[in-house]
Amino acid sequence: MYQGLIKRYREWLPVTEQTPVISLFEGSTPLLPMPRLAAAISPHIALYAKFEGMNPTGSFKDRGMTLAVSHACQEGRTVLMCASTGNTSASAAAYAARAGMQCVVLIPGGKIALGKLSQAIVHGAKVLAIEGNFDEALRLVREICAEFPIALVNSVNPMRLQGQKTVAFEVVDDLGDAPDYHAMPVGNAGNITAAWMGYSEYHAAGKSASMPVMLGFQAAGAAPLVHGKPVLQPETVATAIRIGNPASWQGAVRAKEESGGLIDCVTDAEILEAYAMLPALEGVFAEPACAAPVAGLKKLAAQGFFNKPCSVVVTLTGHGLKDPDTAMQSAASPLVAVAASRDAVLQAMGFCA
Ligand code: F0G
Repeated sequence: MYQGLIKRYREWLPVTEQTPVISLFEGSTPLLPMPRLAAAISPHIALYAKFEGMNPTGSFKDRGMTLAVSHACQEGRTVLMCASTGNTSASAAAYAARAGMQCVVLIPGGKIALGKLSQAIVHGAKVLAIEGNFDEALRLVREICAEFPIALVNSVNPMRLQGQKTVAFEVVDDLGDAPDYHAMPVGNAGNITAAWMGYSEYHAAGKSASMPVMLGFQAAGAAPLVHGKPVLQPETVATAIRIGNPASWQGAVRAKEESGGLIDCVTDAEILEAYAMLPALEGVFAEPACAAPVAGLKKLAAQGFFNKPCSVVVTLTGHGLKDPDTAMQSAASPLVAVAASRDAVLQAMGFCA
């Protein structure tokens, strides 16, 4: 029986016999071929989606959280704390419950998706909404965790990146080699840092013949890595990546430079267009942040970036059900109210003369 990524990739991870494994059997998510979406983007690409929304709490955060919480447990910590745009808090709250620990999360007031908020609440976390953005919340969490014996479980905790690097292992294990390109959304930049670490370690050990070119995408209103300076008031419909001063800034730059890749940005209009394409063309429902790399691939293709056959993996970092409000607001076919009669239903279907 599959028992989570610490068990699957134990020899690649900083765990010992003494580390208690706190797991919800995360990881081993599907790598889905996306032929219809690929056809809409470029004739040259074989596109695969690494659907991280299939993790236990519905996002890639569970990969890092299993490691971070297992370590916190080994160190005898009883309280976890994080700042979050939503997914980290959902994951931290769930793993804290699993471990019998307390969890405190700081979120930007009014700016996190409903599904994520409800997760943190049902798992019993203390949810504090600050009058400020993610960057300010993370600064406060770092300050408090330096002063009190609380385990900080944001991706500034190296265990988070250690767990998250396993996504690269799984892609290589599934494809038999690294893809030509790996596209993903970039917010606090931990994920692109971790994925590149994973590809690098696997390649160094001879598990893959090649390494991918890393393509990171930010939202235009929250694109510090594209502009080369922090954004004080980040804004985007993709609230998961509404971040102006990423903690893993250097890691993202390294992933870009070492892989010969790029970090670009896409507008909210481009994000919403791609957000609607995924579920309509492929039956895969991912949250708005995941649409950033899809829109980014479309943008690059329009510029002639892909001119010969290549394989592309896009990480769909979180499930679409996390953000029902954006789904309903941007729905192409809104609800149609009809009388409870055969004729009314047929007429609404366009089936009668
Ligand atoms: N996609 C989703 C769905 C996310 O929740 C996040 C980050 C990212 C992409 C960006 O990943 O920060 O490693 O570059 N969410 C964090 C949170 C910030 O608090 O849940 P990153």
